[in-house]
Amino acid sequence: MTGTTNNLFDLSNDTAVIIGGTGVLGGAMADALAAYGARVAVLGRSEKRGNARVEQIQAAGGTALFQSADALNSESLLTARDAVNEAFGAVSILVSAAGGNHPDATLPPGHDFCELSRDAWNHVFDLNLVGGSLLPAQVFGETMLEKGRGSIINIASMAGMVPLSRVVAYSAAKAAVLNLTQFLSREWATQGVRVNAISPGFFPAEQNRALLYNEDGGYSDRGKQIIGHTPMARFGQAEELAGAVVWLASQRASSFVTGQNIVVDGGFISTTI
Ligand SMILES: NC(=O)c1ccc[n+]([C@@H]2O[C@H](COP(=O)([O-])OP(=O)(O)OC[C@H]3O[C@@H](n4cnc5c(N)ncnc54)[C@H](OP(=O)(O)O)[C@@H]3O)[C@@H](O)[C@H]2O)c1
Repeated sequence: MTGTTNNLFDLSNDTAVIIGGTGVLGGAMADALAAYGARVAVLGRSEKRGNARVEQIQAAGGTALFQSADALNSESLLTARDAVNEAFGAVSILVSAAGGNHPDATLPPGHDFCELSRDAWNHVFDLNLVGGSLLPAQVFGETMLEKGRGSIINIASMAGMVPLSRVVAYSAAKAAVLNLTQFLSREWATQGVRVNAISPGFFPAEQNRALLYNEDGGYSDRGKQIIGHTPMARFGQAEELAGAVVWLASQRASSFVTGQNIVVDGGFISTTI
């Protein structure tokens, strides 16, 4: 699938960093960017899952490396940036896919908002807003600004557009990610750096499997509720994010697109009862 020069989606002149490429959605996006020719750096804390993803990309004919990095630690991100720039050339695509909820930040049924733990709130905001967007944009954005070329793609959530019941901190943090995306898009628009977001609906992954499925593999009550509210009547598959991420990553395909939020949710956000 590696492109030719006539291919709008050719990424063979690009170096892509996927923070959270060790996870389900970030991993699928790493696969997609590599399939269109990008040199892909998978970043995260899990060396085992990172190396497995790199082997999978290489087996498919792509170019990839794993670099250990903590998205909440600027020094760690700076070290990773230098290593990736050295190995693959200047980073031109950043996918910020580190994120997730915390069990203590989910209000149990019947519990009141006033009981929400401040520590859990801070944890979710740190992970999704600071590690999931702010610090990576600062660190990798610097390289892109130096080169005058880059595409930053923040993985927000449909929950950031309309808050989901019970997961208030996660919803609010993702709303902040969308706001930061718009701010940065304006800030860097004339400097060659585009900043957009993808908002997935519900995709089974490690962090939400227990929420969506029972131990016997059937849908949980919450899972059934979500499917019932999704016009396509199913969850998404991680590979279904490939088109959005490749399009936003490609300077040729989306050259005049910045500050946008691309929703991939089977219609969840577009409907009510
Ligand atoms: N699945 C969905 O339905 C859904 C819907 C909307 C939005 N999202 C968003 O999509 C993104 C990916 O989530 P996922 O569903 O694919 O879950 P996942 O499989 O649990 O992936 C989350 C990733 O975040 C990384 N991460 C967490 N803390 C980190 C840190 N301090 N430094 C570096 N990496 C860190 C983890 O990597 P390590 O453990 O290797 O550090 C993990 O690979 C998240 O932002 C999530 O909020 C998911």
